[in-house]
Amino acid sequence: MTIQLSNQTLLNWTGDTLAIGLFEGAIELTGDLATLNDRFAGIIQELIAEEEFTGKANSLIFSRLGVDQPVKKIILAGLGKPDSLQLDNLRQVAAAIARSAKKQKSKTLGISLPLWNNDPDTSVQALVEGLELGLYQDHRFKSEVEEKSPEIATIDLLGLAGQEAAVTRADQIVSGVILARQLVAAPANSVTPISMAQTAKDIAQEYGLEIQILEKADCENLGMGSFLGVAQASELPPKFIHLTYKPETTPRRKLAIIGKGLTFDSGGLNIKGAGSGIEHMKIDMAGAAATFGAAKAIGQLKPDVEVHFISAVTENMISGRAMHPGDVLKASNGKTIEVNNTDAEGRLTLADALVYAEKLSVDAIIDLATLTGACIVALGDDIAGLFSPDDQLAAQITTAAETAGEKIWRLPLEDKYFEGLKSTIADMKNTGPRGGGSITAALFLKQFVKETPWAHLDIAGPVWADKESGYNVVGATGFGVRTLINWVLS
Ligand code: BES
Ligand code: MN
Ligand code: ZN
Repeated sequence: MTIQLSNQTLLNWTGDTLAIGLFEGAIELTGDLATLNDRFAGIIQELIAEEEFTGKANSLIFSRLGVDQPVKKIILAGLGKPDSLQLDNLRQVAAAIARSAKKQKSKTLGISLPLWNNDPDTSVQALVEGLELGLYQDHRFKSEVEEKSPEIATIDLLGLAGQEAAVTRADQIVSGVILARQLVAAPANSVTPISMAQTAKDIAQEYGLEIQILEKADCENLGMGSFLGVAQASELPPKFIHLTYKPETTPRRKLAIIGKGLTFDSGGLNIKGAGSGIEHMKIDMAGAAATFGAAKAIGQLKPDVEVHFISAVTENMISGRAMHPGDVLKASNGKTIEVNNTDAEGRLTLADALVYAEKLSVDAIIDLATLTGACIVALGDDIAGLFSPDDQLAAQITTAAETAGEKIWRLPLEDKYFEGLKSTIADMKNTGPRGGGSITAALFLKQFVKETPWAHLDIAGPVWADKESGYNVVGATGFGVRTLINWVLS
């Protein structure tokens, strides 16, 4: 599929399907649209009346045009009220149009949409992101592809000639999101700590990042007893992965991005029972996947910011070597942890990653983790929980997420709840009471950051979509990658 920037208009474009965006409540057939309607013998007007199309956001109708017309089909896509058009509406409508055209077996598609905020550059970036993410399909694990519709060959964005830089940028960003989707969707017998290390090496090689992989012995030397406690039951070696992007000039700031990297979470001896979604726990490395996706995109976008991408990758398994519930682990900052639940493993791996990141003297640290089911209970499947003691950093990340169209909501780091993590034998337990489970998880992480501004995103919900929606297809969403990119570039 090729996306082209065209100086054609809806009056002179020819091809299979022409898609036009219309605002709610303002559907008057004037100007070019009136001319087009006349040319198609009034079919646009008839379609609008017949389908009671009002231009509501996310509504979409289409029709075959008359024979011998230079355009075969027309799609009308609702944009909602003109003054409430968000950038993310452009991504979503582009995805909906492209998927509809594909289902109609169109080979060529012309799209005419208004700009967001009179900004062609940002609008084109959003449109291309929406088109590419919305058309994404994953056939890697099928022996045969039952392709119902052929690929769309070319998509013309009408009236947007000259915005090539935005297309390039969108391609680079999407390449990162798709890497994250592929890593998350791949099962745990395909994506392992070893394969994750290899993927990181490939990113480093291709985009000129520095890479350091700490093996188990290296982690032992650094005293990473918390991470290694989680890793000890697995047949596969743990990998502590550290990618570094350095700009050519002096960096404006230095950042660390940490991703939870459990390639499978069985729960350990506190095994996830039936109905717990254990078969879904290949997604437990979605934080690391977002981190890698961001690294891939940043390596191409080349901002003047130094970024460290860090992930302590392992599986949470069961064997004769497994952690016992009640074991005491010692993290690399010397703090001791009573493991009262082996299924609260993500925070144990992140503890050592946070200590490691802070030693890099960065200006800020963010971690992304599919950390708690409690966060899904609180915010549902679409929204990530944001935790940070630093209002300025929280505001930066909120803006970055808004621009990306990724939904996050700040939850309180209520220090009083740390009471729930008090241990009689060690410095802390790894789990507290059921209530406020995502808050105590975040408070646990906070024990491993001394003074660097830090934020934690609990992404357990939005990394996976059960239903197609906007530019998300069923399966892994690549959530977090675009927020991270926006944050680094900000
Ligand atoms: N990986 C899970 C959290 C999770 C649950 C992610 C559902 C995505 C979907 C995490 O390691 C976990 O098991 N958390 C426990 C914590 C509990 C033992 C305190 C949970 O949420 O049940
Ligand atoms: Mn777990
Ligand atoms: Zn987990």
